[in-house]
Amino acid sequence: MPSPDKIKTILVIGAGTMGHGIAELAAVAGYKVFLADINNDIIKNGLEKIKWSLSKLSEKGSLKESVDSIMSRIVPVVNTDPQGNFTKEFENAIKESDMFIEAIPERLDLKQALFKFIDKNRKQDTIMATNTSSLPITEIASATSSPELVVGMHFFNPPPLMPLVEIIKGEKTSDNTVSVTYQIAKNFGKQPVIVKKDVPGFIANRVLARFLNTACWLAYKGLYSILEIDSAVRYSLNFPMGAFELADYSGIDVFYFVNKAMTERGFKMTHCPLFEQKFNSKELGMKSGKGFYEYPKPGAYVRP
Ligand code: 3HC
Repeated sequence: MPSPDKIKTILVIGAGTMGHGIAELAAVAGYKVFLADINNDIIKNGLEKIKWSLSKLSEKGSLKESVDSIMSRIVPVVNTDPQGNFTKEFENAIKESDMFIEAIPERLDLKQALFKFIDKNRKQDTIMATNTSSLPITEIASATSSPELVVGMHFFNPPPLMPLVEIIKGEKTSDNTVSVTYQIAKNFGKQPVIVKKDVPGFIANRVLARFLNTACWLAYKGLYSILEIDSAVRYSLNFPMGAFELADYSGIDVFYFVNKAMTERGFKMTHCPLFEQKFNSKELGMKSGKGFYEYPKPGAYVRP
């Protein structure tokens, strides 16, 4: 049976928006971390962002170790070859790991193929966690032979600063898997909450979807400007970011896929077309240099 003490090495799959932040948390907590993605450029970019974040935390005195010593625990792994097949390097990392946290794009087919491969190559009794934002854990777990070991571990952007982690129990997830994952989130310094109902979008993203959609309709109908809406959200509701600022920050594509996955599974919401328009024109927010606002240095953390 999995236990928190047996977990020494964690494989994080996906070095993008969420994955690099999760890898950072695991390394700060003292775990050896494999950070996997489809090519070296994405991994390099993820590692640079981890270094930037650690340097910020170090300046503020929040780290007990040097940035270099934390970075030395993170091992990059390229997980697919140019034909899209999983690599031997990735297979070896799976064999060596005691827990997996998946943070790849929000597509069920990709996640199921990955979980199937991990399941085939993993050690016994290893927890397979997914950072999915919206897809039911039960659907992802159905690709494995051990759905009792599959659990949702949903972080919020940016993982190093946001306290909440939703620990989601799929239909077949065991209580032990939930409690070990809860403890790992605690070891990462987070405040986990257990989500017992595996509904698409879980708790926070169901609330967030309506909030962003309402803001979007106000702009789309020409009632208020984006800046007016964001100013109201920030300076009246006292949120740390405006609605459009947050969409740009986390990625318009992320919210587009979250909304799509939830709607396809019965979540009722009349989608504002602005999100789809931005998605189709590849204006994805901070990472692409343009979203609802413009960013002179794509990918760098700059508030609009
Ligand atoms: N690591 C370390 N430091 C960071 C950082 C990171 N990842 N990101 C920002 N910082 C630093 C900034 O550089 C700045 O440092 P400085 O004091 O040296 O200038 C400091 O943190 C404070 O940043 P800001 O001045 O820009 O502003 P804030 O005080 O507002 O903090 C924030 C930034 C924590 C991102 C805050 O704006 C916030 O909480 N925003 C809302 C985020 C949110 O709602 N996330 C959830 C999104 S939904 C989601 O993730 C679910 C998914 O499924 C879609």
